[in-house]
Amino acid sequence: MPKKVRIAVFPVAGLGTRFLPATKAMPKEMLPVVDRPLIQYAVDEAKEAGIEHFVFITGRNKGVIEDHFDRQFELESTLKARGKLEALKSLQDDLPKPGQTSFTRQQEPLGLGHAVWCARDIVGNEPFALLLPDMLIKSDPGVLSQMIDAYQKTGNNVIAVEETDPAGISSYGVVGRGTGPDTGFEITKMVEKPRPEDAPSNLIISGRYILQPEIFGLIENQPKGAGGEIQITDAMQKLMEQQKFTGVKYNGRAFDCGSKIGFLTANIVFALDRKDISHAFMEELQIVASNENT
Ligand code: G1P
Repeated sequence: MPKKVRIAVFPVAGLGTRFLPATKAMPKEMLPVVDRPLIQYAVDEAKEAGIEHFVFITGRNKGVIEDHFDRQFELESTLKARGKLEALKSLQDDLPKPGQTSFTRQQEPLGLGHAVWCARDIVGNEPFALLLPDMLIKSDPGVLSQMIDAYQKTGNNVIAVEETDPAGISSYGVVGRGTGPDTGFEITKMVEKPRPEDAPSNLIISGRYILQPEIFGLIENQPKGAGGEIQITDAMQKLMEQQKFTGVKYNGRAFDCGSKIGFLTANIVFALDRKDISHAFMEELQIVASNENT
């Protein structure tokens, strides 16, 4: 039985330049999809998969993420006094338990690989999950749970992938697919942001990973890659020389909330999935689609 994956790492240091001015003072990970911030969805997915410790790689201007995962006594007592017990319970349920969070700063924006490396002391010598909160994935069960299944069977590094069309391929990491089913196939290659003609498949890395701790040593010696940044994909390609990688083509759909279209689409899809608002929202969408009064 492979070692349990107890720790999840959430890189949240990015500047969010694609969402200015909304993200000038507010971290992009706090942008809400319906009424939950993106980071909350990622933490929920990790909790569902059995994660016990949540490591946030932050930067300047990201203090509210730490506040978000803390109790807010004034708010709690007001909700209690007003009898809003359901809202109170839901707030409390969203929180990790005391001591289950760690925060460390990346200090310099040197790339995703470098951000992950900043977690090395906190993670130690254990396998860990890595979730990029920009990628909001709608799936049941959550993608990390689907990946944990593949991990428990193999003990390998695991990467979640999804098919994309050729137009989108150069914005992502792309894997080569070897043998095996969607629930766990061999990964033969990884390339970060390839030109369409160099992409080994149409399967993109959708921001969910289970990695062995040997990745940290490799990141340390990793030269800058695509975009002049230290890339996790390049370090993983190097790790493939020593360890196996399993791909999971999950059931579900990812919304790249780092892009405006992905973010707006996610809001529509998640709102239509919410019993409390879907009916009224659908009516509004129909009015918008028929161009009445707009
Ligand atoms: C990162 C990864 C990339 C992955 C993507 C998913 O890229 O480097 O391999 O496909 O996240 O969102 P970034 O979005 O940071 O450019």
